[in-house]
Amino acid sequence: MHYRKLCAAFVRSMVLLAAVAVADAKNVSPAVDDDGANAPYKVYDAMPAITMGPLLLDMAEDSVAIEWMTDAPSDAKVSYGEGTLDHEAVPQVDGLRPVGTMHRVVLRGLQPGRTYQYRIASRRVVALKPYWPDRGGTVVSPTYAFTTFDAAKSSVRFATMTDTHENVERVRALTALALRRPVDFVVHTGDAVHYATGEDQLKDKFLEPIATGLQGCTPLLYARGNHEYRGGFARSLGGYLHAQEGRYYYTRDAGPVHLVVVDTGEDKPDATNVYAGLNDLRSYRAEEYAWLARVLAEESRTRTAPFTVVLGHDPGWGWLDGANGEWTRRANEAKVDLFIAGHLHRLERVNPGERGNDFTILALGQDQIARVEADERELKVTVLDREGRTVDAFALRRKNK
Ligand SMILES: [Fe+2]
Repeated sequence: MHYRKLCAAFVRSMVLLAAVAVADAKNVSPAVDDDGANAPYKVYDAMPAITMGPLLLDMAEDSVAIEWMTDAPSDAKVSYGEGTLDHEAVPQVDGLRPVGTMHRVVLRGLQPGRTYQYRIASRRVVALKPYWPDRGGTVVSPTYAFTTFDAAKSSVRFATMTDTHENVERVRALTALALRRPVDFVVHTGDAVHYATGEDQLKDKFLEPIATGLQGCTPLLYARGNHEYRGGFARSLGGYLHAQEGRYYYTRDAGPVHLVVVDTGEDKPDATNVYAGLNDLRSYRAEEYAWLARVLAEESRTRTAPFTVVLGHDPGWGWLDGANGEWTRRANEAKVDLFIAGHLHRLERVNPGERGNDFTILALGQDQIARVEADERELKVTVLDREGRTVDAFALRRKNK
């Protein structure tokens, strides 16, 4: 907009705002005439910068969450489509478009197994005034692409990592290793931070390096670690890491694999002084157990998918006040094939029958990835160290379910 025109409009706005202020002072509804309402808001020559992302979090068959961050308060919009960017997703909460530095937009109504192009955009909000807020310029990303999950696909490939514990070089190296061969998605099974202190920490130590590594095209599935329960920002992590359901446990279907992502909670009792009475894992895990029992018993894919793979942090299910065997029993009943976890900071494979488990349990070390390739008959796992050397490999045949 031409500066003089803008300036004149701004002056008109100031006059009107003065009128509003006087009206407010008299406790009378301010009158805004139509001409004034049409006066432009102020636009500064200020552009937001994208400081993280886009990150495709939690892909599903018909939806995906797209996250990014900007250096300054902005709004959010995603343009997307199969051939052209002919759809727009603009989030609103209670009728207001969110304004902030963290942006999360869920695309819904997608078709399974289709490739969509998308790009993100954020327009700066300089001052969130009650009338004529000040705006700025719009930053627009390059165009990226993703492919939705598809249960009907005959094969799937993914990689998992774990316990990166704020080591940015580790996140970058493992993500690059995971993408050295094509994968449909990447999994992180928790303990991305030692404890949560704030948005910048989460961005700098985890979200930015993994989003940069995944290049806006490969989705991330995240399972919560016990360290993500700790620290002054732990209660805010859901806004960044929740699945689309608004929680940390969920199921997804990718080709021949039914994925059950669990939150294995804390590793110490609620009553320990370490948590000073501020944890209630007992109630939370009971709710989660009810969910687990229901999805394992009722979701048809538990029986019809060639493989069911549990993804979680603690290979022993975390602190459950002695009820851990119940979780194993449920998994046995559902004929789970594999549980991929971390937590131990060393590689450990527990074969069926060794701890009451009828399924293989694989705990990855910190500087390792597991490559998983499955078709309708066989699921193959290769564990690589950070240099790409194979440190374990095994294959599981499809069970009769
Ligand atoms: Fe850990």
